[in-house]
Amino acid sequence: MNWLCHKFVISTSVIFLFLYEFSEELSGDSQKEFNQRFPDKPFPNHNLIYERNVTCGEHSSGSFPSLTWTCADVKVNNLRMAYGLYEGIDTKCTETKGFDELAELCRQMMRSIEVKRTLWAAIVSNASCDFHNENRVLLNRTRENFVWHDMPSGFGWIHTIQCMAMRT
Ligand SMILES: *[C@@H]1O[C@H](CO)[C@@H](O)[C@H](O)[C@H]1NC(C)=O
Ligand SMILES: *[C@@H]1O[C@H](CO)[C@@H](O)[C@H](O)[C@H]1NC(C)=O
Ligand SMILES: *[C@@H]1O[C@H](CO)[C@@H](O)[C@H](O)[C@H]1NC(C)=O
Repeated sequence: MNWLCHKFVISTSVIFLFLYEFSEELSGDSQKEFNQRFPDKPFPNHNLIYERNVTCGEHSSGSFPSLTWTCADVKVNNLRMAYGLYEGIDTKCTETKGFDELAELCRQMMRSIEVKRTLWAAIVSNASCDFHNENRVLLNRTRENFVWHDMPSGFGWIHTIQCMAMRT
């Protein structure tokens, strides 16, 4: 497992996370609440998202600054999701070219279990830049919609995604 390959999927919500933490730090008395941790919960073991079956396997729970749901060993119609870094940041597994609508996947998965909270961050907590000898998929966005895009075998696949909700 190559730690260099791990990345956080940064959506604009991450910026809000920092702003929020900063303002909390300034206010002081809410420090205790601020330090509260939440164990993550698993997503259902299968879920129909954009007409494909997103399955999740066994996961060991961790501790997070806000409510978090995990899909470990994630597969989409039995295929792995491609994992990629932006070219320029890393020279490994860049086949996705940075296209990867994980925040949207998180929103849909959270909606399916009726989580009303806003997504805070979509996180790839375990991925590999190793060669994956099977087709892979990627959730991509078109002008109007989100579509699963099929990709051939290649370097980079996601093992675990986590979806963290806003605190309030
Ligand atoms: C999705 O996959 C699970 C596990 O293999 C299976 O039990 C379920 O019936 C599948 N759902 C659909 C809609 O194909
Ligand atoms: C992380 O992914 C690897 C595959 O790349 C897998 O073998 C391992 O069990 C995963 N670790 C956890 C903690 O899920
Ligand atoms: C994702 O969609 C864009 C256009 O919206 C396209 O240029 C790009 O090649 C697609 N990426 C993949 C990996 O399919």
